[in-house]
Amino acid sequence: MTRFRPLVMRWPLSALWVWMLAWGAFVGSRLLQLPLHPAWLLGVAVGVVGSAWATTLVRRAVMALGFPLSWWLMTGAAGTSVLAGMPAWGWLVPLALALALYPPATWKDAPLFPTPRDALDGLGEQVPLPLAGHVLDVGCGVGDGLLALERAYPEVHLHGVEHSWPLRVVCGLRARHAHVRQGDMWAHDWSRYDMVYLFQRPETMPRAWAKARAELQPGAWLASLEFAVPDVSPTVSWSCPDGRTVWLYQQPDA
Ligand SMILES: C[S@@+](CC[C@H](N)C(=O)[O-])C[C@H]1O[C@@H](n2cnc3c(N)ncnc32)[C@H](O)[C@@H]1O
Repeated sequence: MTRFRPLVMRWPLSALWVWMLAWGAFVGSRLLQLPLHPAWLLGVAVGVVGSAWATTLVRRAVMALGFPLSWWLMTGAAGTSVLAGMPAWGWLVPLALALALYPPATWKDAPLFPTPRDALDGLGEQVPLPLAGHVLDVGCGVGDGLLALERAYPEVHLHGVEHSWPLRVVCGLRARHAHVRQGDMWAHDWSRYDMVYLFQRPETMPRAWAKARAELQPGAWLASLEFAVPDVSPTVSWSCPDGRTVWLYQQPDA
C-alpha cells in the first residue's frame, strides 16, 4: 500500500515493534507475578493482535510468530521450554485469537488492507451526497476507509460493519465519529444508505452489485476502491492520488 507512514512505522521495523510489545507484555506480566503460562499466552496474544498491522499474510505470520519462536529458541537452548508443562488447550488461545481476527466468513472477501487516508479527497465535489446523508463502509477493518470518507464527506453520518470483532473494536476507537458494529456485511440491510463503500476483492463485486441492485434506493451509490463490477459501466470513475480508481455506480431512478 502506498499510504504514507514514517520510516520507523514501516516494515520491517513494524515487526520489531510488535515483537518488542509481545516481549514487553510477557516480561511485564512476569514482573507482576503472573504465572509463566498465562504470561506466555499474553505475549502470544499481543503478537497475534499486533499482526493486524501488517498488510500481507506472510508479514502477519512473521509478526505473530516472532515472540513464540524467539522464546522457543531461547528457552530451548537453555533446556527449559515453557511449552513442556503447558496444558494442551493452551494452543487453542492463539488459534482462537487468530480466528477472531480473521473469521472464516471473511475469507471469501478481502483480508485487512486499508484505504489510504487521502484516497477520496475531492470525491465529494464530483459525487455530492445529501447533507446529513448516510454512508456505510462494508468490511470497515480498522477504520481507514471511514477516515478517508470523513475527509471526503465531512457532513454525512458514517457507519461501518466489520465481521472481525477485534478489528471492529480498533475501528470504533479510531473512527470515533462513525457508528461501527460487528456483523456480516451480506446480512446487513443496505437500503437506508446514500452510499455503500467497499474495498474487497474482484470476486466480491458481482455479489455486491446484486445486493446493491436489490437494496439501494434510486439515486444511491455503490463505490468500490480498485475493483470494478464486471461488465457494468460505472457512472463515475475517480482517480485516487496513488493512481488507483474508485468505481462508482448510481442506482437508476425508479
Ligand atoms: C480490504 S479490508 C478494507 C478495510 C476498510 N474498508 C478500508 O477500506 O480501510 C476488508 C475488510 O473486510 C472485512 N470483511 C471481509 N468479509 C466480510 C464480511 N462478510 N462481513 C464484514 N466484514 C468483512 C475484513 O475483515 C477486512 O477487515
